[in-house]
Amino acid sequence: MSDEAPTISGEDPPYVPDFDISKPAIARVYDASLGGKDNFAVDREGAALVAKYVPDIRKASQDNRRGLAKGVEYVARQGIDQFLDIGAGLPTMQNTHQVAQAVNPDAKVCYVDNDPIVLAHGRALLADDKSTTIVTADLRDPESILDHPDVRKMIDFDRPIGLMVVGLMMHFHRDEHPGEWVKTLIDACPSGSYLHITDFADTGYPEQERMERSCIQALGNGWIRTPEEIEAHFQGLPLVEPGIEYPARWFPGEPDREVPAVEDLEEWQRIIMCGVARKP
Ligand SMILES: C[S@@+](CC[C@H](N)C(=O)[O-])C[C@H]1O[C@@H](n2cnc3c(N)ncnc32)[C@H](O)[C@@H]1O
Repeated sequence: MSDEAPTISGEDPPYVPDFDISKPAIARVYDASLGGKDNFAVDREGAALVAKYVPDIRKASQDNRRGLAKGVEYVARQGIDQFLDIGAGLPTMQNTHQVAQAVNPDAKVCYVDNDPIVLAHGRALLADDKSTTIVTADLRDPESILDHPDVRKMIDFDRPIGLMVVGLMMHFHRDEHPGEWVKTLIDACPSGSYLHITDFADTGYPEQERMERSCIQALGNGWIRTPEEIEAHFQGLPLVEPGIEYPARWFPGEPDREVPAVEDLEEWQRIIMCGVARKP
């Protein structure tokens, strides 16, 4: 056997695993909370700690995925055929490219994540998929995303883009001003682009505070935000009706749709809030 690291395809650089498994990682804890298998004992312990405070964490995580799928489907139906998905996560059910390509088989998706384990799993999954790619880059350095050659190869910044920051903003403290990184990205997208965000909700329910406390214990981050704070991350872009909402009440572009009353929602349905805005 050769000592050289295995290569995924002839063109790729050698793939050298570089995972720190001494600490829980956001992508792997989330995978564990969704019931996935791409995680280690330390991540399962992190997910179990969160579950002590929020017993329905799996349902809440799946609810976030519903918010992801609803937003992608809505944006794809508006004619957007290229998606830049920041904080992509490990492949799971209903991934962005599957949802987008169910609406438009020609839709392209560029996944971005700062965790190399996401790159490794994503590459294995997407090896033969020419309309989907995945790169390792950090939202904290948005220019490195915009300048990444693989991003530029997949995404045409002269045509409207679906920019997604889904299940990611909660991992940054407000003192880091994460909205400024989002601003750099959406500023680089042309008129007619969409910005789709989901975040942890802070609307005064005790389960939301328990979510924050448990995530901070397990991961060191995971802050909740009021709808106004979430809206601020849209940089003043006009939100599609019904604005910022829980996934169960969020049907973008269908403001007249009948939805359950907030008081009738289960606790796990009040953990996440979603929004999508169009850049005029
Ligand atoms: C909770 S998961 C969300 C996955 C998916 N977007 C979803 O909502 O189902 C957050 C993902 O963001 C990634 N992430 C965390 N910090 C990041 C950063 N600074 N830049 C890019 N990705 C980041 C993590 O590795 C993880 O895969």
